[in-house]
Amino acid sequence: MAEHIRLDRFLAEAGIGSRAEVKKLIRSGRVSINKERAKQPEQKVSPGLDEILVDQTPVKPSAPPTLMLNKPAGVISATKDTKEKTVLDLIREPYASKLHPVGRLDKDTEGLLLLTEDGGLSHALLSPKKHVMKTYFAVISGQPDREIMLGFRDGIEIGEKKKTLPAKLVFLSVSDTVQTADSEENEILPGVESIFSDGEILPGMRSISQSDLAHCEEGECCAVVSISEGKYHQIKRMFGAFGRQVCFLKRLSMGEVVLDPALKPGQYRPLTAKEMELLTDVPPIVHEDEICQ
Ligand code: URA
Repeated sequence: MAEHIRLDRFLAEAGIGSRAEVKKLIRSGRVSINKERAKQPEQKVSPGLDEILVDQTPVKPSAPPTLMLNKPAGVISATKDTKEKTVLDLIREPYASKLHPVGRLDKDTEGLLLLTEDGGLSHALLSPKKHVMKTYFAVISGQPDREIMLGFRDGIEIGEKKKTLPAKLVFLSVSDTVQTADSEENEILPGVESIFSDGEILPGMRSISQSDLAHCEEGECCAVVSISEGKYHQIKRMFGAFGRQVCFLKRLSMGEVVLDPALKPGQYRPLTAKEMELLTDVPPIVHEDEICQ
């Protein structure tokens, strides 16, 4: 079914002017919808179906931007599915039909998922040669364990031809005393510190929210993991190799692009110009076993 959006929003997104400027255009009678003069900025239009003219010139819907979605649990990272709700069902038209997700998150994984129509960009971000770093917040069964941290660093057998590439694992200690708004210098956010690692801050770590931490129940612990591969269920299989279960998983960042903490699960926004630059300038990570002598 065609989606309807406000006329002023359509014109602003098509680059005609700011929301305030296009409102003026509409009120001054310079905009028409299907040959009738538009009267109100809040009138609903169907981009791609309605003929919208400004000063007799057709306005085309803008090219879809690359979007940052805070993927909720319960939807699959696909463009279409006959049974399951997909991430594109969360996106309004006219963009939804043009975009595809950059890689996959499991159905129960939340967090940063990029949606783009730019096949070159997704290829560059997903190419096994590029090793773009992806950072996740995870709630794990059991208590923090230094051996697991060292295992992640050295590579783990997860039933693939080779061990996993070096990954970073930082366990978190979460204080359950009343938190103040200010973080101490060595804190990731109020009351949260890293264990075993010397205070290393991984990308996106500071965007962990209190509601993320609330997923951690008795007998579980919190961790942040950075991996530079994208094997099927990779993080679950890495912890599984140590007999641990991943109880909650949320992607915090991809390369240098961090999930906007203002986005609630299911919400999305276009990437800013700065974020687009960060994505297209990702420096490759070279692992030791890949250096040709
Ligand atoms: N690793 C997993 O196990 N699941 C994801 O969704 C992403 C990384």
